[in-house]
Amino acid sequence: MKPADHANVFVLVPAAGSGSRMQAGINKQLLELQGQTVIEHTIDRLDRHPDVSGLILIAAEIDLTAMEAIAKRRAWPHLYRVITGGATRQHSVLSGLQALAAHPDCHDDSIVLVHDGARCLIDPLTISRVIAGIREHGVCGAALPVRDTIKKASDDGYVIETPDRSRLFAMQTPQGARFAPLLAAYQAMTAAGRILTDDLAVMEAAGHPVFLTAGNERNFKLTTRLDLQMAQWILNSGPEPSDALIKS
Ligand code: CTP
Ligand code: MG
Repeated sequence: MKPADHANVFVLVPAAGSGSRMQAGINKQLLELQGQTVIEHTIDRLDRHPDVSGLILIAAEIDLTAMEAIAKRRAWPHLYRVITGGATRQHSVLSGLQALAAHPDCHDDSIVLVHDGARCLIDPLTISRVIAGIREHGVCGAALPVRDTIKKASDDGYVIETPDRSRLFAMQTPQGARFAPLLAAYQAMTAAGRILTDDLAVMEAAGHPVFLTAGNERNFKLTTRLDLQMAQWILNSGPEPSDALIKS
């Protein structure tokens, strides 16, 4: 029998983007849904997961005062720090990893999840599946099979390729790995000037095998106005079935 894995679980929450596709004039994570900001919905759900022992919120410089005020008011038990992010999501996550290194309970084998601040309908079972996937496989992220056929096209609009849909997945977050290899991969890719759009891509580029586990259709990223309306509708339609399974 394998020994029990008591490694701590930390979550980095990148929320330092500008939300340009939302066209709201402010960071989409500061928009309100049912009387509270998007980032509060996200952190509420991460903070009450029974395995999570620390959280870092990564904010844009321009939003830092607003995010710090929210953090002070909400006083989430597991929130460790609010820090400033960088020019890309990759830079923001790297700043989060560097800040996490100072946490007294962060060790090389600690489990680190990265979860987009804009995915405010994250459910406890998806978080648990990703944690289990990291314990088992080292690197893991939440994903869903793509619904539509995906085509690769040239700049002038001609189709180059139609990949086999049964092998294609749309990535969600959480995604993560153990602290030491995740930090090393982020440092290496950033130093090499390779800018990647998700955490698994950083680990793949550094040569690690990565494993996919099931995401959740509700765990979409608020990107456009329609996403905001869908999230509102889901929140208005009452508790989610999986919420009942893990008590806060
Ligand atoms: N993010 C970040 N730092 C950046 C860019 C993005 O922390 N420099 C965060 C976003 O705040 C978001 C997540 O990464 O929670 C995923 O990014 P995305 O949905 O693309 O958000 P934005 O970049 O803000 O939106 P857009 O691309 O429409 O401008
Ligand atoms: Mg973006």
